[in-house]
Amino acid sequence: MAVERIVNTTNEDQEEQRLENSLRPKDFTNYIGQERLKKNIKLAIEAAKKRKEPVDHVLLYGPPGLGKTTMASVIAHEMGANIRITSGPAVGRAADLASLLTNLQDGDILFIDEIHRLSRSVEEVLYSAMEDYKLDIILGKGPSAKSLRLDLPKFTIIGATTRTGALAAPLRDRFGIMHRLEFYNLSEIEKIINRSAKILGISIDSGATENIAKRARLTPRVANRLLKRVRDYADVNGDGIIDMNISEKALELLEIDNLGLDPADRQLIEAIIVNHKGGPVGVETLAALMAEERSTIEDFYEPYLMQIGFLERTPRGRKVTHKAYKHLKHDPNKQLKISSPQSNLL
Ligand code: ADE
Repeated sequence: MAVERIVNTTNEDQEEQRLENSLRPKDFTNYIGQERLKKNIKLAIEAAKKRKEPVDHVLLYGPPGLGKTTMASVIAHEMGANIRITSGPAVGRAADLASLLTNLQDGDILFIDEIHRLSRSVEEVLYSAMEDYKLDIILGKGPSAKSLRLDLPKFTIIGATTRTGALAAPLRDRFGIMHRLEFYNLSEIEKIINRSAKILGISIDSGATENIAKRARLTPRVANRLLKRVRDYADVNGDGIIDMNISEKALELLEIDNLGLDPADRQLIEAIIVNHKGGPVGVETLAALMAEERSTIEDFYEPYLMQIGFLERTPRGRKVTHKAYKHLKHDPNKQLKISSPQSNLL
């Protein structure tokens, strides 16, 4: 059974969605971090406005929780456009997409989250819609089937995906603007925590902000989630004010260590060290060991572990680094000796 994780960046319930929406920055001025992306998108928006055209289709990719949906709504705000939000799995049939597209107005933005999960038949409808603002519909079946071409308004698609590799090349090629969202740095995460605390009316000191930031996996969604959990702890066990002591105790209770790793991360690393001598080990084997889908390992566990230099992807599989051994208090030399060919001769 897959584990429930506080650092997991999906499974948002409605309450969490509401919280996330209330914390979402509305414009570029309030959007902290992703400087390179902001610079490029701002330019594209300014140019589109000057030409009185919709902005080119945008593909945002990168690990979950880094602000792809937020960026899409900021783009809509900056363009003065309406945004319709949907997701790959929600657009099950070509007819669902046709209905979404025909209800758009000139200049509207259609945000498709998890765009890599669109079916091939839906993707195909999207090709001509994105390229020529035309919708090709087949009416009827068999020899009497007729094809119909409808004009669509001049809209913009913003697609979000955790990996571009999973996207069919013809779809990928139809995005004029493609950007990867990067992990944030610690100071950006601290700014996001302070901004969220202010919006939510939470009193937090700088030591506690730093403490939460360090454990937020360089990810705003995790930072906001931890802030909320620590606030619960402060309300129950203190006077609601978050200081270093309260934050330390709350985070300890959540079993999140000083690098932001939770028990599931540690279990994954431990499994590679103990069962596979540090790797390389195939991702399918890891998925089986963790009772998770391969995509969960690739999208949720690995990006942060690679970012902090704990895990490497090699052609032969995943390998943990010395840094990871040290963090989990294993001796890399001992482990490496066992796995080296010479040791078999002893
Ligand atoms: N909340 C979540 N992500 C944010 C960001 N990038 N900037 C400001 N607030 C945020």
